[in-house]
Amino acid sequence: MRIDIITVLPELLKSPFEASIMKRAIEKGLVEIHFHNLRDYTKDKRKTVDDYQFGGGAGMVMMIEPIDLCISKLKSERHYDEIIYMTPDGETLNQKMANSISLYENIIILCGHYKGVDQRVRDQFITKEISIGDYVLSGGEIGAIVFCDAIIRLIPGVLSDETSALTDSFQDNLLSPPIYTRPADYKGWKVPEVLLSGHFANIEKWREDKAYEHTKNRRPDLLDN
Ligand code: ADE
Repeated sequence: MRIDIITVLPELLKSPFEASIMKRAIEKGLVEIHFHNLRDYTKDKRKTVDDYQFGGGAGMVMMIEPIDLCISKLKSERHYDEIIYMTPDGETLNQKMANSISLYENIIILCGHYKGVDQRVRDQFITKEISIGDYVLSGGEIGAIVFCDAIIRLIPGVLSDETSALTDSFQDNLLSPPIYTRPADYKGWKVPEVLLSGHFANIEKWREDKAYEHTKNRRPDLLDN
């Protein structure tokens, strides 16, 4: 998968891709990340990317021209499956959305700043708008990092244990069951007996029951779907 990220703050985005699972995915050649500094697509000396709102009102608006120049250049080079705009009024990111986007070949992510982008950018170029939750961040970059992490770990070959992404919380609309490791008894706090039994079917049943119970207590809304 190739991800092109358009931003006014490339320095804010870089380090998460230089560590963790995302770094490994890049090193394995399973993912390519390309950062595009919007200021490189401006034509004036001051490299202006924003301007006042027509009609008045607080907050600057990201101008259409640099975004058009950047997106049009990228689109002339390859086909994109989706051109995504990170914004608090987008569709809320969830596991199902991450699963389907993880299958794409090429995507562009546009990070908003200030008040947001000129509406014509959204009307003309954007194919999907994504929010990472009902709160406002100071820009789309942190949201883009969250989104990239969620999709990259799902790409086949990225996680060393192939099954581990499938047993994550939210796959099958269930939260994960409790997990334990050694020691089996710590200060008298014991690991559930069944997990030490070696009886695979009983262990599976216990995990399913616990996942259901945990979901019912914490996120009953997930069981409704
Ligand atoms: N930009 C600002 N707030 C955001 C949010 N909640 N999700 C995605 N992008 C954003």
